[in-house]
Amino acid sequence: MIELEQARHRLEELGMGQAAEVLDAILEAASHSQSTYLSFLNELLEAELQERQRRNVEVRMKLAHLPYRRTLSDFDFSFQPGIDERFIRELAALTFIGRHENVLFLGPPGVGKTHLAVAIAMEAIGQGLPVYFVSLTQLINDLRKAYEENRLDKRMRIYLRPRLLIVDEVGYLPLDPLAANLFFQLVSARYEKGSMILTSNKSIGEWDELMGDPVLATAVLDRLLHHCHVINIRGDSYRLKEKLKTGIYSSQGTKVVQVFSGASGSKIFRR
Ligand SMILES: Nc1ncnc2c1ncn2[C@@H]1O[C@H](COP(=O)(O)OP(=O)(O)OP(=O)(O)O)[C@@H](O)[C@H]1O
Ligand SMILES: [Mg+2]
Repeated sequence: MIELEQARHRLEELGMGQAAEVLDAILEAASHSQSTYLSFLNELLEAELQERQRRNVEVRMKLAHLPYRRTLSDFDFSFQPGIDERFIRELAALTFIGRHENVLFLGPPGVGKTHLAVAIAMEAIGQGLPVYFVSLTQLINDLRKAYEENRLDKRMRIYLRPRLLIVDEVGYLPLDPLAANLFFQLVSARYEKGSMILTSNKSIGEWDELMGDPVLATAVLDRLLHHCHVINIRGDSYRLKEKLKTGIYSSQGTKVVQVFSGASGSKIFRR
């Protein structure tokens, strides 16, 4: 027993808290199953490794600032038949990040744009990739403050560092000239260097108005769409699902901004 206590204590001293915690149980199981010394050791190390990986993911989740946690398995594709499930699963395999491509989810409120962006982000975090999630309003407020305090370059790094940057809710608020300029700077700096996922309730044609400057809007869209997967989601709001069921809202009464354009996984490549 003294030896067991010693072993536990040493594991703790080595920073192997999980191994220390499960030592008893693994020893006990090993003595019943007649496992070899080597398989006992492997099991103990595996338990420690798994716990460390879990904690790493947890830390990266926090650093990513996701608004909520949702996975693809939480997504009911039958509710949104316009979405090509196979293509979304391909995106979740994350090869687009290696190619520095972007993803643009377009559609009216409640159709699952943020959910799908978060689900892809969670896959990326699980794979150990640095991810950062921000709404366009937060992003602009943050960059504007940094600009006014003469530390824009430094602050911009927060948004340039992650392999995947998600900018949510593009389009809910129009941008003033400084905001449009800051957004352009960000998109330009990430162009062909790091992937972005954007969600927007505005169709691409409406971005002129959103940015208040057609020249800047064209420059932003040119870079964003050069290597981009555009997913137009048309359909009913999932938030109103229950109400639709009870007939409080009719699906005809739900404003549909986007028209689904064939394969939802249509790629837009400029060249
Ligand atoms: N097909 C779906 N299956 C399961 N849950 C869904 C589905 N679509 C949306 N949801 C859920 O409905 C809520 C709203 O979805 P989400 O946040 O993705 O909307 P959105 O398209 O980003 O809307 P908004 O433009 O208002 O931000 C979330 O809780 C999300 O998990
Ligand atoms: Mg959203």
